[in-house]
Amino acid sequence: MADVIDAAPAPRAGWRMATGLLVLAVFVEAVFAGAMLSGVEWARRAHMASAGALIAFALASGLVALLALRRVINGRKLALILLALAVVLVAQAVVGVLSAKGANLLWLHVPLGVALVGLAGQAAATARGLGAHA
Ligand code: HEM
Repeated sequence: MADVIDAAPAPRAGWRMATGLLVLAVFVEAVFAGAMLSGVEWARRAHMASAGALIAFALASGLVALLALRRVINGRKLALILLALAVVLVAQAVVGVLSAKGANLLWLHVPLGVALVGLAGQAAATARGLGAHA
């Protein structure tokens, strides 16, 4: 019996969509941040609310991937990247809240946001390789 199996095309498309949404959502955080810095009134609430949604989505998809993709080639890798993304997102939110409270940490929060786009992109690239040998 094979140890690993190919992902069926339909679930693979779902993972591609989910990880693509994560890349987009992290990028949109930067748009809200720009609006916030331009003085747009609702942008801070949008940045905060989407931070919570992003963390929940990354964590939930990481846990689902861990269970659903454990026998799929690249499945465990995708799960670990998604869980790492959730952890770094939590760290990012903590640094964001501390910055909003006056701590001098935007030097860390802004580049970490750029790194998060890269990490989400890594998840998307891995989702494209689900079921494929390296
Ligand atoms: C992608 C680039 C990002 C940029 C340029 C950015 C920028 C900022 C800025 C300028 C602030 C306000 C800090 C202050 O008032 O002094 C902030 C706050 C915050 N950021 Fe980000 N951010 C980014 C990504 C993210 C991401 C991905 C998250 C998700 C975890 C996040 C979570 C937060 C939170 C929770 C706050 C506090 C909001 C509040 O208390 O009102 N940020 N961010």
